[in-house]
Amino acid sequence: MLLLSACGGDIKVDIENYPQPDSKGAIAYIESCSSCHVPPQPALYSTHEWDVIVTRMQQRRMEKRMPMVTNDKLELMMDYLQRHARQA
Ligand code: HEC
Repeated sequence: MLLLSACGGDIKVDIENYPQPDSKGAIAYIESCSSCHVPPQPALYSTHEWDVIVTRMQQRRMEKRMPMVTNDKLELMMDYLQRHARQA
């Protein structure tokens, strides 16, 4: 079991609860998205919704003056989210 928590915050996420927990995509996702809240399951949103959400979350980071998620991580994460997104 691997527990990752970003930014020394209080949010603990069990990556085993997400699809393909050993993949780079899953790790990039949990690392990038667990600073402010528990990252939602990929299957909750469609591919289009993920696009919109991730863009908005970059804005949330900016508002908090947190560094942007880097492009390589973003790519890994988008690929992961698209692959496991809700089919619709
Ligand atoms: C800087 C803090 C912060 C980070 C980092 C962050 N979020 Fe959020 N997230 C929020 C806040 C605040 C809300 C509620 C307001 C909103 O929906 O914009 C939210 C809401 C959400 C929602 C619900 C949105 C909806 O449309 O109902 C989803 C899904 C989400 N975040 C996904 C993510 C993902 C994916 C990442 C990583 C890329 C991420 N969050 C990173 C602050 C953050």
